Amino acid sequence: MELFRGVLLIWVSVMFSIQINSSNVHGRYHYHKKQNSKGSSVPSSPVSAPEVAPPLVPSTPSNSPYVPSNPYPNDPTNTTKSEYIFDVTNYGAIGDGYTDDTTAFREAWKAACAVESATVLAPSDKTFIITSTIFSGPCQPGLVLQVDGILMPPDGPESWPEADSHKQWLVFYRLDDMTFTGRGDDCISIGTGCSNVDIDGVTCGPSHGISIGSLGVHNSQACVSNITVRNAVIRESDNGLRIKTWQGGTGSVSDISFENIQMENVRNCINIDQYYCLSRACRNQTSAVYVTGITYRTIKGTYDVLTPPIHFACSDTVACTNITMSEVELLPHEGELIDDPFCWNAFGTQETMTIPPINCLQEGKPEKLVEVSQFGC
Ligand SMILES: *[C@@H]1O[C@H](CO)[C@@H](O)[C@H](O)[C@H]1NC(C)=O
Ligand SMILES: *[C@@H]1O[C@H](CO)[C@@H](O)[C@H](O)[C@H]1NC(C)=O
Ligand SMILES: *[C@@H]1O[C@H](CO)[C@@H](O)[C@H](O)[C@H]1NC(C)=O
Ligand SMILES: *[C@@H]1O[C@H](CO)[C@@H](O)[C@H](O)[C@H]1NC(C)=O
Repeated sequence: MELFRGVLLIWVSVMFSIQINSSNVHGRYHYHKKQNSKGSSVPSSPVSAPEVAPPLVPSTPSNSPYVPSNPYPNDPTNTTKSEYIFDVTNYGAIGDGYTDDTTAFREAWKAACAVESATVLAPSDKTFIITSTIFSGPCQPGLVLQVDGILMPPDGPESWPEADSHKQWLVFYRLDDMTFTGRGDDCISIGTGCSNVDIDGVTCGPSHGISIGSLGVHNSQACVSNITVRNAVIRESDNGLRIKTWQGGTGSVSDISFENIQMENVRNCINIDQYYCLSRACRNQTSAVYVTGITYRTIKGTYDVLTPPIHFACSDTVACTNITMSEVELLPHEGELIDDPFCWNAFGTQETMTIPPINCLQEGKPEKLVEVSQFGC
C-alpha cells in the first residue's frame, strides 16, 4: 500500500446528502476571492511542471507546462496571497450537483500546481461532484485549494468506480507549503510527506474526523511536520483529532497544532494511537514514529460517551513529548461524564484546566529524550 503513504486525504461523509449548513464556521470565515473578469492574461512561463505521482498523470509529458486557458490574475492589493486563480468552472466544471466534475478539478489542479502561489477555486453557490481523486505534489509553493462551494462524491462509495478507494475521497500527497480552506462537508487525513500545511475552516461529519496517519506501516519511515488545523467543526464522527501510527515505523510527527475545533457528539475526540493495527494481530515492535510538539488549543464541545474523549496511547519505547493542552473542554453529549482520560507514556503540559480533568499526562521530559533529527526527517 505504498500508494497511500504520504497522503493527505480528504474524507467525505457519504451517508447523507450534504447540505450547506449555516454553522458559525461558515459565517466567520466567509470570504470570497474577487474574480476579476476583465483579466485574461496567461501566467507567463509557468515553471517546470511538477513531478507527479503515478496514479494521476501517468502519461503526460511532464516538462511541457500546462498553460491554463483562462486564469484570472488576482488583484495583488487584495487580501489574497495568490497570484492566480484557477477556477474549476473555467476547466469545465459545472457544479450542478449532478455532473461529474472530476476531470475539471484534475485539470485545474495540474495547471495550478505548476505555478507559484496559485489558487484552485471551487466557487460558492455550486455543488461539484467529484469521485475519489488523487491530487499529487510536489507543486510549486504556495498552492491553495479553496472550496467556497460544496464538493461531494457521487452517491456514496458504493457507486464509486471499483478501482477507487472507498475510504478516501480526495487524496493529496507529497505536498509542502499548501493551504486548504473548505466549507463543504469534508474531512481530512494527512499522510507522510506533508509539511507546512495549513487547513482552515473544514466541517466534518458525520463519519470520519481529522487524522494524521496512519503512519509507519511495514516499518516505513514517516515524516509529517508543521501542520495547522484550525476553525473546524467535527460532528457525529468516529474520531475527532487523531494521530495514528503503526508499531515498527520510524520518522516523526512534529509541530502539529489543532486550534479552535468544535466537537459535536464525537467519539475519540482527542486521540494518539501508536498501536494502530488493522488485523488485531500486530506484533510488538520497538521502533516507533516519534510524536512530539502536538498542541490542542481551544477544543470544545461534546463527546459520545461510548469512548473516552481523550486517549494518548504512545509507544512503549519512544514516548510522546511536548503535548500542550489549552482550553480543552469536552462534555458528554448525553449521559455520564467520563472522567478517566487515558495516557500511556505521554508527556506534556496543560496551560489551563482540561475538562474532563486529565491527570495522566506526565510533566517534563522522559528519561530517554530523543531529538527529532535522530529520526531522519
Ligand atoms: C479588491 O478588488 C476589487 C475588485 O477586484 C476592487 O474593487 C477593490 O478596490 C480591491 N481592493 C483593494 C484594496 O485594492
Ligand atoms: C509552517 O507552515 C506555515 C504554512 O502553513 C509556514 O508559513 C511556516 O513558515 C512554517 N513554519 C516553519 C517553522 O517552517
Ligand atoms: C504487546 O505488549 C503488550 C504490553 O506489554 C502485551 O499486553 C501484549 O500481549 C503484547 N502483544 C504481543 C502480540 O506480544
Ligand atoms: C513544543 O512544541 C511546540 C510546537 O507545538 C514548539 O513550538 C516548541 O518549541 C516545542 N518545545 C520543545 C521544548 O520542544
